[in-house]
Amino acid sequence: MTQITLTQFLLEQQRDHGAIDADLRQLVEVVASACKRIGHAVGKGALGGVLGSQGTENVQGEVQKKLDVMSNDILLQENAWGGYLAGMASEEMETFHPMPASAPLGRYLLLFDPLDGSSNIDVNVSIGTIFSVLRAPESIGKNADIQESDFLQPGSKQAAAGYAVYGPQTLLVLTFGRGVVGFTLDRDLGEWILTSEQMRIPEQTQEFAINMSNMRHWETPVKRYIDECLAGQEGPLGKNYNMRWIASMVADVHRILTRGGIFMYPRDQRSSGKAGKLRLMYEANPMSLIVEQAGGAAIDGANRILDIQPQGLHGRVGVILGSRQEVERLQTYHREFN
Ligand code: AHG
Ligand code: MN
Ligand code: MN
Ligand code: MN
Repeated sequence: MTQITLTQFLLEQQRDHGAIDADLRQLVEVVASACKRIGHAVGKGALGGVLGSQGTENVQGEVQKKLDVMSNDILLQENAWGGYLAGMASEEMETFHPMPASAPLGRYLLLFDPLDGSSNIDVNVSIGTIFSVLRAPESIGKNADIQESDFLQPGSKQAAAGYAVYGPQTLLVLTFGRGVVGFTLDRDLGEWILTSEQMRIPEQTQEFAINMSNMRHWETPVKRYIDECLAGQEGPLGKNYNMRWIASMVADVHRILTRGGIFMYPRDQRSSGKAGKLRLMYEANPMSLIVEQAGGAAIDGANRILDIQPQGLHGRVGVILGSRQEVERLQTYHREFN
């Protein structure tokens, strides 16, 4: 069997399909190479001295793990010199990161959650990296400097999105808005190999993912849906549901891309009905593009996540995504209730 490497896949996307330009190809190659380095560090664990806390706090008010900071640094370093970026933004940095003056200024913006699932680092459970690519405004570099407002584009404008999972296998899942493909890292060769040509999420499911310990804070539509799932075959949904919660969004979303399901981190009453826990720009937007491109749906409650106009780099949002029919059911419940 001939194997298709990430490099070959990206070149063909550029040359034969005109789906990406040379800059976006290089950007994704470099992000994938950064993920390889992060995955390598993750795999060393205690032997590499990468476990435990850094002792600092990020702009989200979270205590940073060593790997949160290391992964952020790796992504910043690797992407600094290629000349395809106009700026970067990250869950771990308060403000956006301008490019060094010595490098040419590029046309893309890169946003990332460098290490997703931080609470799972020290317990050897799958974690990952999530990234989103936007186009910088045309004026950047000619007569304007990059500003935070340049990043505040709805998720529907993303030129690409992807994630890596550092688990039993190291995986990379990608979309350029033309379907979703998956690569597995051949750890002997250090090469990403195409292993899923077209990832599709089954429309129906019998599996939900939610942190049940927050039940008392949920809004009525979410409570109603989960009650119906728990009622099983005798309930209004007429089927028995299974539950999974890994607490690494990358791993939960990857399971849904593989065998279907619904993932929820809804906004709840603690956040006065306005926001959830997950970050729109670094988590919800890239994952929503991937899920939609795989035939699923992604909403914040009543509305499509990809249509949301971001108000700030670190804004949070309720997230309900996965198998289309289940997500649409929840959307109906939210619309009926409001
Ligand atoms: P991060 O580690 O990047 O801060 O994100 C953690 C997120 C997400 O990966 C996961 O779905 C969720 O937090 C888990 O939250 P709980 O610990 O509240 O279950
Ligand atoms: Mn975090
Ligand atoms: Mn995260
Ligand atoms: Mn993170």
